[in-house]
Amino acid sequence: MKTPFSESPSPSSLLRNKARLSPYLFTLLVFIFFVAILYGEDFICIFGQQLQLYSNPHAFFSSPERVKRHKLPFAIGKTEEGCDVFSGRWVWDEENRPLYEESECPYIQPQLTCQAHGRPDKDYQFWRWQPNDCDLPKFNASLMLETLRGKRMMFVGDSLNRGQYVSLVCLLHRLIPEDGKSMETFDSLTVFTAKEYNATIEFYWAPFLLESNADNAVVHRISDRVVRKGSINKHGRNWKGVDILVFNTYLWWMTGLKMKILVGSFEDEAKEIVEVSTEDAYRMAMKSMLRWVRLNMDPKKTRVFFTTMSPSHGKSIDWGAEEGGNCYKETRMIENETYWGSDCRKSVMGVIGEVLRKTKVPITLLNITQLSSYRKDAHTSIYKKQWSPLTPQQLANPASYADCVHWCLPGLQDTWNELLFAKLFYP
Ligand SMILES: *[C@@H]1O[C@H](CO)[C@@H](O)[C@H](O)[C@H]1NC(C)=O
Ligand SMILES: *[C@@H]1O[C@H](CO)[C@@H](O)[C@H](O)[C@H]1NC(C)=O
Ligand SMILES: *[C@@H]1O[C@H](CO)[C@@H](O)[C@H](O)[C@H]1NC(C)=O
Ligand SMILES: *[C@@H]1O[C@H](CO)[C@@H](O)[C@H](O)[C@H]1NC(C)=O
Repeated sequence: MKTPFSESPSPSSLLRNKARLSPYLFTLLVFIFFVAILYGEDFICIFGQQLQLYSNPHAFFSSPERVKRHKLPFAIGKTEEGCDVFSGRWVWDEENRPLYEESECPYIQPQLTCQAHGRPDKDYQFWRWQPNDCDLPKFNASLMLETLRGKRMMFVGDSLNRGQYVSLVCLLHRLIPEDGKSMETFDSLTVFTAKEYNATIEFYWAPFLLESNADNAVVHRISDRVVRKGSINKHGRNWKGVDILVFNTYLWWMTGLKMKILVGSFEDEAKEIVEVSTEDAYRMAMKSMLRWVRLNMDPKKTRVFFTTMSPSHGKSIDWGAEEGGNCYKETRMIENETYWGSDCRKSVMGVIGEVLRKTKVPITLLNITQLSSYRKDAHTSIYKKQWSPLTPQQLANPASYADCVHWCLPGLQDTWNELLFAKLFYP
């Protein structure tokens, strides 16, 4: 099987058209090929470091003091030394939560308005994230809006990123008078405009970031998913000129252990499709995203965030409950500190860590996976708009149609935005 996305292309796939070469010549070619790869990487490495040395003389011998001089755009302070805002615990806070009311934010899609769809409990709205080693800065909507004056902010990804996008709009819209704001959708792009601020907060549907057969913003329920290699610009041209970008991608890759990758174009009559492991396919997308960022975003003026996997709660045995259940009727969170659900792939987190560790492109990670893993109580479950009428069988067994992927608003995703706020202003 061909694996065009492993670190080095496999010789068999590269040389498959030269099969008629003599065995000696073939061996020689393979040898030269590997030498070139081995040393080529070294050359790139040495050359790259020299380039960096010239453009930033402190980069090589950078003490922490020197690094601090290159402040990230939008930063106004910093998080306490040694505090990882993503490790902590949930605390009950009736005084300060929720940050807005469901009925007071008209932008929440009916798939996320749980109270309006009959959810009987509200406890999920009253939890605040408390990092272990510091406090989160208070979300300041006017600071955020002032910062966005004359700017564009965009979320790019799947429906979970859309949830975070809507949560941010809900956190900000109260400061803007009724006739000074609007939300419009044009195919894959949804744009919230704050007129007096000349600011937009946008969402762009691209569940794989790369081009795929699930790109239609409305009709995209496709089980036989295909992603096109090297196609980041197909969507990326719509992200140019954005000042703050927030990417996510995960759930759509979870179609099994392999992913179908299209090598040519979707218009080709005979499509060349290869299957690779989910991790290799995901790595390819991450690298494409980073390359796009390097070529299109100015690190002195813009910021880029990447949100890690949003966990789902589809299997109650994961948290030690009876088999066959899911998030339906769950109103309490999981208290096991090291809990990690079976449908949340550690190997994908590994790929994210590996790719971001290796890059020099400045990306801020929003590692929301662990803190969200506890929140089996925060999903929309059955309390959402149903697009088709429920069957008697479904009605008899509500767990069978509970949505344990998406999250009620207000709720968990407001915390993701508090973390985004913290990392934007106090990196
Ligand atoms: C919020 O930010 C604004 C600046 O836009 C500042 O004047 C105000 O004091 C801040 N509010 C709080 C509670 O920190
Ligand atoms: C409004 O913001 C855009 C960037 O989003 C900028 O190009 C334009 O110049 C701004 N217009 C005004 C009147 O400030
Ligand atoms: C806590 O969660 C971890 C990971 O999901 C699991 O291995 C462990 O058994 C759980 N501990 C308890 C006490 O349930
Ligand atoms: C995100 O946080 C989890 C839990 O703390 C950790 O295991 C994982 O390595 C982190 N991911 C990255 C990419 O740093």
